Amino acid sequence: MDKRPESMARINTPALAQAFIAEQIEAIRAQVGDKRVLLALSGGVDSSVVAALLIRAIGKQLVCVHVNHGLLRKGEPEQVVQVFRNEMGAELIYVDAVDRFLDKLSGVADPERKRKIIGKEFIDVFAEEAKKLSGIAFLAQGTIYPDILESVGLKSHHNVGGLPEDLQFELVEPVKYLYKDEVRQVGLALGLPESMVYRQPFPGPGLGVRCVGAITRDRLEAVRESDAILREEFAKNGLQGKVWQYFTIVPDFTSTGICDGKRTDAWPVVIRAVNSVDATSATIEEIPYALLHHITARITSEVKGVNRVLYDLTPKAPATIEWE
Ligand code: XMP
Repeated sequence: MDKRPESMARINTPALAQAFIAEQIEAIRAQVGDKRVLLALSGGVDSSVVAALLIRAIGKQLVCVHVNHGLLRKGEPEQVVQVFRNEMGAELIYVDAVDRFLDKLSGVADPERKRKIIGKEFIDVFAEEAKKLSGIAFLAQGTIYPDILESVGLKSHHNVGGLPEDLQFELVEPVKYLYKDEVRQVGLALGLPESMVYRQPFPGPGLGVRCVGAITRDRLEAVRESDAILREEFAKNGLQGKVWQYFTIVPDFTSTGICDGKRTDAWPVVIRAVNSVDATSATIEEIPYALLHHITARITSEVKGVNRVLYDLTPKAPATIEWE
């Protein structure tokens, strides 16, 4: 196993983060010379920190590809373009692949098949973009130390298939010996926005696994809009950065409600807010009732097709964190 050097100090201050950045800039320049480097930039913490480091080190020799598969949270694709292209001046290819993903997922209810389709389609889209580029010699990746420690962990397990054989590049993995908190320190020192650096864990298949069963566009929008309200309210009420993971789920059944004196037939939104250390077990965050009432009122009035809000009180185990 690729081991973190024992002499490496824990990066827990801005000064240590700056020293790490200076070291890595030299190392990256020495490794890649004047060649071009490709990076799949999802907008998650790890790939964002790698992008920011590489932009500092090699500027336009880095080519970032952001694939919008339609399963990202509200505002995320826009933020990736704003931060990396507009503010940091990165070479960024934005691929709108929303229709392509949603068409492939149409009618597919099995969770593992959904994950496989999303993973495969992602590799296909990324490979197609890579083939259009010339002179790429390196592939940058946001591998972090826990990914190496649990080599059967989530990233390798769920998310990344391999690139095709004609697209094999030497890897650039500048944060591979860092733990998550260290990656965050480095991200802050690189000037990334806090909303990006302190992002909660987000599954590779994105909102796709929270739109339970076969994904439809309108139910997916209900997931995205209710998630945005939950995140906004958690941020306003001091829970962002305190609660480990929180999100909404929209199951694929409806129930009866009432609106303006007429019966409705609409979906429920389920709120999940959990604390965990490593995702193998999780406990429930006790959200104050007043806040739950407020979030319920907002979701039922602002999100189309929803007439009910539920709060999932089940720890892991027996439940998993996600619903599928
Ligand atoms: P579960 O639902 O198994 O989730 O308790 C544990 C943690 O893993 C995340 N998760 C995923 N992450 N690809 C990922 O990268 C996936 O397919 C996937 N499924 C679940 C989940 O959000 C939680 O943090």
